[in-house]
Amino acid sequence: MNNAVMQKQAAFCAQFGLKHPVVQGPFGGGYSTVALAAAVSNAGGLGSFGAVNLSPDEITATVAALRANTRHPFAVNLWVPIAGHEDRVVHEDAWARALSVVAPRYRARGLEPPTRPAQWAHPFEAQVEALLAAAPPVLSVVMGVPPAEVIAAAHRRNIQVIATATTAHEAEALDAAGVDAIVASGSDAGGHRGAFLRDAEDSLVGTFSLVPQVVDAVKAPVIAAGGITDGRGLVAAFALGASAAQVGTAFLASHESGAPEVHKAMLGTRAARDTALTRVFSGRLARGIVNDAMRAFSPAADALLPYPMHNAMMAALRRDAARHNRADDLALWAGQAAPLAARRSAAEVLAALLSQAEEARKSL
Ligand SMILES: Cc1cc2nc3c(=O)[nH]c(=O)nc-3n(C[C@H](O)[C@H](O)[C@H](O)COP(=O)(O)O)c2cc1C
Repeated sequence: MNNAVMQKQAAFCAQFGLKHPVVQGPFGGGYSTVALAAAVSNAGGLGSFGAVNLSPDEITATVAALRANTRHPFAVNLWVPIAGHEDRVVHEDAWARALSVVAPRYRARGLEPPTRPAQWAHPFEAQVEALLAAAPPVLSVVMGVPPAEVIAAAHRRNIQVIATATTAHEAEALDAAGVDAIVASGSDAGGHRGAFLRDAEDSLVGTFSLVPQVVDAVKAPVIAAGGITDGRGLVAAFALGASAAQVGTAFLASHESGAPEVHKAMLGTRAARDTALTRVFSGRLARGIVNDAMRAFSPAADALLPYPMHNAMMAALRRDAARHNRADDLALWAGQAAPLAARRSAAEVLAALLSQAEEARKSL
């Protein structure tokens, strides 16, 4: 790697107080753990905790637990609500139509079909208030441009803001808003990418195509994400001009992640070669390993509710599958490079990425 490439990484590490320019991607939906984020931060990367499903009190407690487990910088991640995409008003007939798709599968598992919850999701405003008060070193967001007052309040508290783009247009919008770094998340990525200027289906740019465009378009440092699962991918990300890499699936397979055992066991195998983008688990487009629930619900996808309503409707089914370690109803989130993942500790995942990258660099 030439000097200019290494200087970018060094500048990123200096900006965020890291030893290595590697971010552990945040995982919402119970896949994040304090142990995982702290292990990555303690090993010199930026550990992240996905807090989208947490209440304000849980956010406060999680930031305290992270502080207790690492003296190093870490990030906590929220989902910005997309204006007009989630008015959270669901008419009875829409609920009944969606329920008619989902209920038979609940009954087949011996479970009561879901009833309408008191609230679909924790309000972003209350989550962000708790997070700003807890003041983690980094606030990371996906699904939109954080409100100007949130960025300003974060900066007043010395919290750096990382936001996620799926297209060069989105990256420009985030840059104009003044975020401190931009994740350029290619469509290879596992889980939700969070397109917000156009439909997710119209924002499917692969990591190789997206990262150099975003690097050329913005002033903020760029963190490449999507399909970076071993050292070869890491070197490629830096060659494309990224200042750092965000790695999800490789850390999802680690001992410390919150993924159910059966999910971890599939990452790193031939079964993980077959991933697809689907809305059937959360109501938003996300990439996971093809399984029985994905196949069963996909033909009726038009009858399902959008996020966060559909996510709430599916929660008990997923919880039951996780409890019984059954892959058929789980959202088996995984990126397209998932077969390259390995079962290791999080520190070993980071060490392997760095040593493989060194080998890949030498072989160039
Ligand atoms: C299980 C899972 C949950 C995720 N949840 C979030 C999330 O809540 N917020 C977010 O910004 N990114 C989320 N992501 C995206 C990752 O942080 C990361 O950008 C992505 O996994 C990178 O692609 P890769 O899986 O190919 O490494 C999630 C990814 C996975 C696999």
